[in-house]
Amino acid sequence: MKRILSGIQPSGQLHIGNYFGMMKTMISNMEKADLYVFIVDLHALTTVHDRDRLRQGTLEAAADFLALGLDPDRCTFWVQSDVPEVCELMWILSTLTPMGLLERCHSYKDKIAKGIAPSHGLFAYPVLMAADILLFQSEVVPVGKDQKQHLEVARDIAAKFNNTYGETFVIPEPAINETTAIVPGLDGQKMSKSYGNTIPIFLDDKALRKRVMAIQTDATPVEAPKDPDRCNLFALLRLFAPPEKLAEVHDLYVNGGAAYGYIKQDLFELIRDHFAEARLRKKELLDNPDYLRQVLARGAEKARARAAETMDLVRDRVGLSY
Ligand code: ADP
Ligand code: TRP
Repeated sequence: MKRILSGIQPSGQLHIGNYFGMMKTMISNMEKADLYVFIVDLHALTTVHDRDRLRQGTLEAAADFLALGLDPDRCTFWVQSDVPEVCELMWILSTLTPMGLLERCHSYKDKIAKGIAPSHGLFAYPVLMAADILLFQSEVVPVGKDQKQHLEVARDIAAKFNNTYGETFVIPEPAINETTAIVPGLDGQKMSKSYGNTIPIFLDDKALRKRVMAIQTDATPVEAPKDPDRCNLFALLRLFAPPEKLAEVHDLYVNGGAAYGYIKQDLFELIRDHFAEARLRKKELLDNPDYLRQVLARGAEKARARAAETMDLVRDRVGLSY
């Protein structure tokens, strides 16, 4: 059984990009893998400096996963900061991480360009992510394409450690699903909380419809043929529509007759129905935060036991033992 690990920041509403880029893959691996799923609140501290927002976001993220079908008895599911060993490992790894490796990271440059304060934590973000991955000897890490470079950093750090101190860490592989690697947002750019172009999964019907109607399309008249492969509305429809429906709309694009307003209405209904049950479950879960806390506490205990094994080995390898 492969050990598969991935995490998500509790920094905003879960959207369709997160779902297809990462969560769905994780949940579908529950039966087949030794699965590690966690909420990266320490990473979120690089951008969220509001205590109540972080606390609420963490419970929401837990409810998101469980509502969408993650079974905490069939995986290890926890909150990053409940396993403080990760910070110790991060420090050890950071003493081996070349500055140049971090200076090349796009995500750091992008975040600064968007006005996020360039703190040391933001710069060191990929080292903490490497510690997340290596602490659990993860073999496969499902992520969206935007995280690919961070995975490369984790692999480089693992190799550097192994070369310096002897074989210690598994070198992790990214798993990027090419068809959902970059889910487009309302404006056709990558869907992302920080671009304000998302379709959150758990909006109420009215707000969801409004978002779907706001998907930007071109001004081609209904009867003119259009290229489905260059249309973000079609790209989103592809994620939800059954094959016959998709083929029918594809024909309308190619031969003329595709009316964006009607397609958006179809897409709205498909998204609404796809997540209808999960939406109800999420509400029930949020009404019972103590249950969520219990689930996370049990997960943290499991994760800490695994982390302790790695840290015993790491401390010994580097000489933090006497
Ligand atoms: P955001 O960009 O909205 O802040 P996160 O950085 O929290 O999203 O991403 C959480 C997970 O979801 C990561 O694995 C990321 O690669 C994936 N992801 C985010 N946006 C998309 C997208 N538009 N398409 C595919 N995967 C995505
Ligand atoms: N950096 C990831 C993101 O923004 C979240 C993350 C933190 C992560 N640690 C991880 C993902 C470890 C996979 C594995 O989406």
